[in-house]
Amino acid sequence: MKKITIAIDGYSSCGKSTMAKDLAREIGYIYIDSGAMYRAVTLYSLQKGFFTEKGIETEALKAAMPDIHISFRLNPETQRPMTFLNGTNVEEAIRSMEVSSHVSPIAALGFVRKALVKQQQEMGKAKGIVMDGRDIGTVVFPDAELKIFVTASAAIRAQRRYDELKSKGQEASYEKILENVEERDRIDQTREVSPLRQADDAILLDNSHMSIAEQKQWLTEKFQAAING
Ligand code: CDP
Repeated sequence: MKKITIAIDGYSSCGKSTMAKDLAREIGYIYIDSGAMYRAVTLYSLQKGFFTEKGIETEALKAAMPDIHISFRLNPETQRPMTFLNGTNVEEAIRSMEVSSHVSPIAALGFVRKALVKQQQEMGKAKGIVMDGRDIGTVVFPDAELKIFVTASAAIRAQRRYDELKSKGQEASYEKILENVEERDRIDQTREVSPLRQADDAILLDNSHMSIAEQKQWLTEKFQAAING
């Protein structure tokens, strides 16, 4: 069967990665969480002290880019992908609130985007890939055969992220999360390089009132239509 490229973009915490991961597993495609890559660069920057009172030490980060190696490996037990930064498993660390509240300014840096987009395009060369993020359908894979743009109300997205952190036993405040979701939306939509926007040929999905099962069914139908189309 022919393999295609699937791009899933949308707002923060709207459940993109859950649906992308599930679909990839079901159809035997590779799943890449591009947000995890921006998060890994952010974690590295925090560890190296690149965030200062005056802002981000962009020159230091630029010089360090060749030393930042990000890769993904499947957890043999859960079959879920884990993110590695220079050989260390950072899957949990990159989901912390500290990283969430520093990631959008890092993702707005042109040289960071250029380096990561190049790696993402390499990963998708052979097709058979589901990638989620903010600019996958617009910049990384503008020729993707299936593009989905996911959205949901900010309050519902914050609630989902709150539930997710709580279920992992992490401290969380709903108000802080909502603030973070809205702030990231703002930065992601207004940045100069590759702002978050729906590609002209993307299918819009508002999943505010959809269950995971309903969303899965919806996506499977779109996939079937795309490979038969
Ligand atoms: O999981 P959530 O949707 O909250 O965020 P994420 O997908 O992990 O992405 C974290 C941050 O990375 C976003 O808020 C964006 O600022 C940035 N990002 C981006 O600019 N481009 C991408 N392709 C993916 C993420």
